[in-house]
Amino acid sequence: MPQQTSIVEPPGLTTNQTPFIEQAQAHGEIFIHQPYELYSEQNHEAWRHLFARMKPRWERYANRHFLEGIDSLCLDPLRVPRLDEVNKFLRPLTGFQAKAVSGYIPAFLFFDCLRNRSFPTTITIRPSGKLDYLPEPDIFHDIAGHVPMHTDKAFAETLVRFGECAHTAAELVAGIRDEAERVRRLTSIIRAMARFFWFTVEFGLMRTPDGLRAYGSGLLSSFGEIQYAIDSPEVQRYPIQLEWAINQAFEIDHYQPLLFTVDSFDHLFSLIDELERWLRDGKLNNVAPGEPAVNERDLKSFLHRA
Ligand SMILES: [Fe+2]
Repeated sequence: MPQQTSIVEPPGLTTNQTPFIEQAQAHGEIFIHQPYELYSEQNHEAWRHLFARMKPRWERYANRHFLEGIDSLCLDPLRVPRLDEVNKFLRPLTGFQAKAVSGYIPAFLFFDCLRNRSFPTTITIRPSGKLDYLPEPDIFHDIAGHVPMHTDKAFAETLVRFGECAHTAAELVAGIRDEAERVRRLTSIIRAMARFFWFTVEFGLMRTPDGLRAYGSGLLSSFGEIQYAIDSPEVQRYPIQLEWAINQAFEIDHYQPLLFTVDSFDHLFSLIDELERWLRDGKLNNVAPGEPAVNERDLKSFLHRA
């Protein structure tokens, strides 16, 4: 009798609905592989829709380094990308590579990955019926929002400097004898670094001869916010000042009402240099309280450098 063949739809790698991820997290595995065969047709459809609707917005609102990055990575607009293939194009350009993770990664480890030119990358994708907003990152945010920026040499160097700052911070606080004071200062430093990262790498705008353009990945992966950030009269946009950015709280559950602009990636790089000087001088030890919260895992990761 001929054997019957039936095509079984894979279970999918949908955000918050993925047993593969739950198991990895339950086993404490942070770095994982990308089980490509698990992506369902719905997952690919979500990618296809996200990519197709972003394309004209990128052309209108994204900075040129990003647009060049999208081209040089040869991202497939129709299927969820394979990290291995993205890395084949990315690595020769700046040494960066996307590295699959199971979800949240403690702050020190995250920055340390950047120092080693690895980018912790989420492999799940938002549900195809919920393309607009998700508080968690997904592969569209990470690969289509972040990774094209990593093809730019000056931007890549800035990310590496973030990682070096994290090491400097860990070394500095390790020298503080009093435990409560060590934790208090570290909390302030992590908050300052997270704010600076947020207002640049995630939500930064750049002044260009053609007007304002987005380089922050939170904007580059959001169909609604990329336009709002640049066109809405309600958004406050100011030239970045380090003292302001590190003391400015932010919330993640709505469009950003306040954004900062840089002139170039060399400008951004000079700011991270200044951030490290301020760190060494103790200027990050007492930043304004408020968001983001610094959790126990973030603190421990800096204290144990792991
Ligand atoms: Fe991000």
